[in-house]
Amino acid sequence: MKLKYENIINKMTLEEKALMMSGKNTWETKDYPEYEIPSMTMSDGPHGIRRQAGAGDHLGLNASIPATCFPTAAAVANSWDEQLGEQIGEALADEAITMGVNVILGPGLNIKRSPLCGRNFEYFSEDPYLSGKMAAAYIRGIQSKGIASCPKHFAANSQELRRMANDSIVDERTFREIYTTGFEIAVKEGKAKAIMSAYNEINGVYANENSHLLQEILKDEWGFDGCVISDWGGSNDHALGVKNGSHLEMPGTGKSGMKDIVDAVKAGTLKEETLDQRLDELLTLIFDTHKTQSGINNKFDVEKHHELARKAAEESIVLLKNDNNILPLKKGKKIAVIGDFAKTPRYQGAGSSLVNPAKAPECIIDEISKAELDIVAYEQGYVRNRKPDSNLIKRAVEAAKKADVVIIFAGLDEISESEGLDRKSMDMPQGQKALIDEITTVTQNVVVVLSAGSPIEMPWSAYVSAIVHGYLGGQAGASAMVNVLTGKVSPSGKLNETYPYYYKDTPAYNYYPSKERNSEYREALYVGYRYYSTVGKKIRFPFGYGLSYTTFEYSNFSVNEDGIIFAVKNTGNMRATEIAQLYIGKKSDTVFRPVRELKGFKRVTLNPGEQQFVSIPFDDKAFRFYDVRTNSWEIETGTYDIMIGKNADEMVLHDELWIEGTVDSGCYKWEEFEPYFEGKIRNIDDDMFQKLYGRNIPDGSWSGKIDMNDAVCQLYYGKGIFGRLFCHTLKGLLKISEWQGKPNLNLLFNYNMPIRGYAKMTGGFVTMEMARALTDMANGHRIKGTARLIKAAIKRN
Ligand code: BGC
Repeated sequence: MKLKYENIINKMTLEEKALMMSGKNTWETKDYPEYEIPSMTMSDGPHGIRRQAGAGDHLGLNASIPATCFPTAAAVANSWDEQLGEQIGEALADEAITMGVNVILGPGLNIKRSPLCGRNFEYFSEDPYLSGKMAAAYIRGIQSKGIASCPKHFAANSQELRRMANDSIVDERTFREIYTTGFEIAVKEGKAKAIMSAYNEINGVYANENSHLLQEILKDEWGFDGCVISDWGGSNDHALGVKNGSHLEMPGTGKSGMKDIVDAVKAGTLKEETLDQRLDELLTLIFDTHKTQSGINNKFDVEKHHELARKAAEESIVLLKNDNNILPLKKGKKIAVIGDFAKTPRYQGAGSSLVNPAKAPECIIDEISKAELDIVAYEQGYVRNRKPDSNLIKRAVEAAKKADVVIIFAGLDEISESEGLDRKSMDMPQGQKALIDEITTVTQNVVVVLSAGSPIEMPWSAYVSAIVHGYLGGQAGASAMVNVLTGKVSPSGKLNETYPYYYKDTPAYNYYPSKERNSEYREALYVGYRYYSTVGKKIRFPFGYGLSYTTFEYSNFSVNEDGIIFAVKNTGNMRATEIAQLYIGKKSDTVFRPVRELKGFKRVTLNPGEQQFVSIPFDDKAFRFYDVRTNSWEIETGTYDIMIGKNADEMVLHDELWIEGTVDSGCYKWEEFEPYFEGKIRNIDDDMFQKLYGRNIPDGSWSGKIDMNDAVCQLYYGKGIFGRLFCHTLKGLLKISEWQGKPNLNLLFNYNMPIRGYAKMTGGFVTMEMARALTDMANGHRIKGTARLIKAAIKRN
């Protein structure tokens, strides 16, 4: 195969070529002035640029250059607005270019398998179609400016606990239909120039060296011709990674990565022409993304981007309840504002996505005072991460008594959700729950405004009049919220995920988070609404749900083999937007599937009384299922249910359509796969899962012998006293940071990292051989381990 940069590659030595396949430091690739190869700069992140000008770390610890903090992905997904996604992408790229960034590390589009994943705030949805469409929009926007987007984390990476030491055991059909379809859309429709491989293994092979994932699916099937970049510290066997489709190991590993590659080429396990091919693709990315860098140090338009952040927040706000039309707030009513969040907003999440906002984040207290409202009191109500404070609650209750309407600002605090940890429950912090309980005993004219990146239980829901969810609304989230509360804007967001009543209702409840090495995806296709709607489980708020200050009527449904047409009318008296959702289902005795799945959507903005006809064409995802007999996508011949829903539980239009497929039937016998046909997937036993999985379930239990790839938090299994002590110390320190209410990302990272991580995250200070020695020590071989460590340290120099 002809290489684009053959002239350069031919001049380089094997060592020089190999050195380019690992980072130069935390954020940059190796440069070679003698070959005119510049280094390429990468930067998080998904909802704002986190470009560190000084010391680099990948956890958001050291300050970064100020940048617009847009609402996080979980918020923007509620808008279902691809155009908005593109606009945010363009703005992110504009800012990135002023900071000399070539590759934006985002968007993140892992599937919200469980409401407890600590990074759900960074991801779009529980549904792959919505996730993929939103991600593709961001990518198109970013790449329209000439730099690259790097969607992440590819794939089946839905758990933070031991995130680098987890093996996602998932059957091929589920993997394709749920966990990779979003990435497929991102790659094919967004044309992503890069992709970040996940930390975890998939069916026993690390994502970054998984040829099925990187070669067969990504390259051969989807036609990806960009670069695969490892998640930070996620590279395991670097040479194997390069062989199997990965390009760049990040961050830098000194010369250790280079040595791995050179050794592999010399040993014949990695062909030099494969290395050249990967390098050529990497050089293409580097040179292509440098063409736009003339704008470095130009200023971006801070005000314009702040406006865009506000628009994004407005479109993302979801009205969940509005009894007696208590909202919008009426002029002349006395209003009490309660809750610490009104003063100190929670507007983004913690971890590598942390943005240093370009404008001081707005707060409700300031913004609401600009509206023509009669604010009679403000009370703090709670200490955000502490037990109920009776004094604060008492004051809040007194304030509530003076008001006609009480607005309580509540949600999840900083320690509840973060990169590096999974939530332990879907509870809201106790202090806030107690506050709501007490206030609702004196009045029911209560509006609860939530800030949180993922679902919470709301046992108080029946006792309040309205609930508005702003998710994590970015730096302009407060004015957006005030615009919705006062009716300047009609809320139009619809939930990107289901809100079950209780955490114990969730499909993966018995499997999440994984207890040992294996993270077994036994619930298979039944993620989120796919489960609840199939078994008819009652939930608090369905996927796709959201109210408006107006009402909409659907009519004139017509279906043909190309797609559907229907009419939507605004029957209220305010201009507003509706998000119509296309769901498709099929009854079948040979292919089990959820009763309905999202296959399209449209946003329609209408004036009062206005009606519009809307069409949604069927695309290649509309009828397909992944057939494990042919290892390809097939369409089962038969009659399909075509439905338009206001949300996943409320179908307003329905018709049927006969489709001539590619296969007459599937391969599943009802009697053999009954739980999967019925959606009763919460207690799938080993035999059933094995049947679906199609191979033996690997033994994921810890034997007591520590492996290089076991996480630090597993060291207590080892015989080595120091390992155990280290592990307990980290645990203790984590407890302290929990009490302080601020996630300690360094500790969390170390706690969840495998021993191998020390070789991948220390810029070459610890080599792989030294990590092996540490593993010996963790297993109680103190003398052997120390000798090996000393030898390896001498060799390193
Ligand atoms: C995160 C990635 C991020 C990278 C660089 C990792 O810990 O998983 O999402 O892009 O760090 O900051």
